[in-house]
Amino acid sequence: MPLADLHLHLLPAVDDGPPDWETTEAMLTQLAANDVKLVAPTPHVWEGDWQQVGERHRGLDALVQRAAEKGIQVVGAAELWASPDLPERWEQLLPLTYGGKGKYALVEFDLSEMPLFAEWLLFQFKVRGVTPIIAHPERYFWVQEDERNLYRLLAAGALVQVGADALLRPETPMGKTAWRLLQNGLVDFLASDWHAPEPSYPLAQAVQKLKGALNSEAITRLVWVVPRQIAAGNTVQPAWHSSPVRHEVQAFSSGSGNLPRRRHWWQFLWRWRKR
Ligand SMILES: [Fe+2]
Repeated sequence: MPLADLHLHLLPAVDDGPPDWETTEAMLTQLAANDVKLVAPTPHVWEGDWQQVGERHRGLDALVQRAAEKGIQVVGAAELWASPDLPERWEQLLPLTYGGKGKYALVEFDLSEMPLFAEWLLFQFKVRGVTPIIAHPERYFWVQEDERNLYRLLAAGALVQVGADALLRPETPMGKTAWRLLQNGLVDFLASDWHAPEPSYPLAQAVQKLKGALNSEAITRLVWVVPRQIAAGNTVQPAWHSSPVRHEVQAFSSGSGNLPRRRHWWQFLWRWRKR
């Protein structure tokens, strides 16, 4: 099965990914062996890191060349740390959206606390025409404890990327959360968040594991159809729209999509009656 991976660290010596081209080459060899046809290297852009934003794509042209020799297409992107000053840096950030198209951006949140500005920040993306993608929500303690925190971000217009490594460790809190999100139909696509040749590439292994749980059409959507659409800058229907918990997600939507809707007590009664 061909794979598209929109979250991994492949550019040498720009973040905590591979330190040199030799390591990047070893990773490209594994990617090709796993039938990966499209990748988006997503170097970290940490909070307060603005001086070096231009450096984050250093080596991208060379990577495009080297990957093409192995039959892999490369689209530039980044993993943006969710900080309240992102909107002020918009001009710098646009080249770091997927393919520089200004349509989709990968956003990483603090593990331990959901920031108070989270929905506001996602709204800032949306008003600029960029759909934010939440990177690996299954790792966030505040999602593990209460998935309604993720519902709020979905209602604010975000898509969800779950990590292949979590699916391979179903006994851990992040693995349990990942599988629950998947079974609730809230996951838009999967990615590896791979940083180094060891441990070996996890996305193809996760696909094998998924075969017992989902049909092949659903799996293809998660690892090929949706990520390719995102890389091309095309519109994607959020997975949660057809999820069994869509009414719970909608409860956090104001219609304009940013703030939780205020409800009167009798509106809750109405919802209960509709069930
Ligand atoms: Fe990452």
